[in-house]
Amino acid sequence: MKTIKRIGVLTSGGDAPGMNAAIRAVVRSGIYHGFEVFGIKKGYEGLLSGDMYEMNLRSVSDIMSRGGTILQTARCKDFNTQEGVERGARMAEVFKLDGLVVIGGDGSFRGARDLSRVIGIPVVGIPATIDNDIGCTDYTIGFDTACNTVKDAIDKIKDTAYSHERCSVVEVMGRGAGYIALHCAIADGAEACILPEKSFDINTDIIQPLIGCRNRGKHHYVVIIAEGVGGTMDIANEIKQITGISTTTTILGHLQRGGSPTVKDRVMASLFACKATEVLKNGGGNCVIASKGDEVIAIEIEEALKMTKKIDEHMIITSKMLSL
Ligand code: F6P
Repeated sequence: MKTIKRIGVLTSGGDAPGMNAAIRAVVRSGIYHGFEVFGIKKGYEGLLSGDMYEMNLRSVSDIMSRGGTILQTARCKDFNTQEGVERGARMAEVFKLDGLVVIGGDGSFRGARDLSRVIGIPVVGIPATIDNDIGCTDYTIGFDTACNTVKDAIDKIKDTAYSHERCSVVEVMGRGAGYIALHCAIADGAEACILPEKSFDINTDIIQPLIGCRNRGKHHYVVIIAEGVGGTMDIANEIKQITGISTTTTILGHLQRGGSPTVKDRVMASLFACKATEVLKNGGGNCVIASKGDEVIAIEIEEALKMTKKIDEHMIITSKMLSL
């Protein structure tokens, strides 16, 4: 077993609240285990250009409460090519990295796996995306904060929707997944919620529920559309035309990615990151850290990349039942 002296840490892909807590925990627990820890700027772009620096215990002071990532991040297209991976491997040798921790999503973990194939150093992935759409883990860093941001926004939208008896159509992020949409539909009591995982019919899934709610005495309505569904403006126009209800559309966009991370995101990020350095300390690697039930575990990277997860049908039924 090769003793690890120096590890690199990077954040890659879309940023997520809690990434800073993960960086902090990699640096502090890494130093605790006797590693030198190098922070790599802007994801794989920084690896390719050698934009990295040694971090110390104080480099990560006062960052846990901040959204975003102090290391910055990028979606690096060059690293999707064999040539790019080989250049990255060469730079990892220049900086004498013996291990790498990648905080990001599936695409970032694939890059880490490819790098490890070329250079043979152990890599560990830490799942971080507001979308919660990584198959191997129940939870991804950033999801809880994003849901709370959406909840706060919809709470405010509902105040004005009530005053004007309106229907509020709200588009939330999630790429091809509906986890943010479904959780916030329950948290905000949405009258309808449309997910990319399920085909939908505007009459049965939106118009009928809205009219039913109106006939049962409701005065305002929230319709959540996950961005992966597409056509949010068209859906809102149809609602207005068919029902005659005054309808507004809010696309929440990137505000969902910012903000101070919640307790859950800070704790999960800290647990994931400490597990990552523990794995490296014990001579392991080439894995993704995951939460399964109450446990934080390491799953072999190839296996992790093949895993998928499904939207919870019980939550869909719960959301519909409680919106009556
Ligand atoms: O994966 C996180 C996410 O915020 C998605 O929900 C969204 O589709 C995407 O990133 C937006 O990416 P970008 O910031 O590159 O526009």
